[in-house]
Amino acid sequence: MKNSPIDSGTTGKFISFEGIDGAGKSTHIGFVTSWLENHGKTVVSSREPGGTAVGEKLRELLLHEKMHLETEALLMFASRREHIAQVIAPALARGDWVLSDRFTDASFAYQGGGRGLDLAKMEALEQWVHPHLQPDLTLLFDVPLDVARARLDATRTLDKFEQEQADFFAACRNEYLRRAAQFPERIVVIDSSQSIDAIRARLTAIVEKLL
Ligand code: TYD
Repeated sequence: MKNSPIDSGTTGKFISFEGIDGAGKSTHIGFVTSWLENHGKTVVSSREPGGTAVGEKLRELLLHEKMHLETEALLMFASRREHIAQVIAPALARGDWVLSDRFTDASFAYQGGGRGLDLAKMEALEQWVHPHLQPDLTLLFDVPLDVARARLDATRTLDKFEQEQADFFAACRNEYLRRAAQFPERIVVIDSSQSIDAIRARLTAIVEKLL
């Protein structure tokens, strides 16, 4: 975490995991968690939307109810505000490592890119909700759209986002990659079409640098 008063004197780090649905990020969060724990770190694993009691209720609404795109963006940031207050900031203040399955880059990708919400509004929300907090590292799992679509488990009921069409995910992916180009010091793009072993080797090399 950068530029935050709670940052001083702590060794905790904040890592977010991003990528379009089906990009494979969930598989790798467990690996990074175990790797860090094996290196003596206390890890707090969480997710967005969600991660708190209020956030999980908002997640239910967000993943299953149709709503105006600005309502959707505001609720994503409402969930995030609660997540920061209840989970992320206290964990970092304790010196723990926080691994979050998605953070604000997902709002840019999905509500900004996918739904087309004005990026200036997204930036205003980001400034409002976490003006001094950014992940120390964001791992962006990137795959071609057809690979991501093929990975979505067809045997379970797809949520509201997963039911979107290919052009929606193409726009999400483009926005993720635009953010990665904008913040190259924070966002690392991982080619998620590689083998799991190759990805794990890359993840280990990247995360090791943060220790
Ligand atoms: P996801 O993280 O993919 O969970 P699961 O692996 O259980 O399906 O689901 C969260 C969905 O919420 C995902 O489709 C992306 C979407 N989302 C947004 O649209 N904006 C956001 O700011 C966040 C955090 C998530």
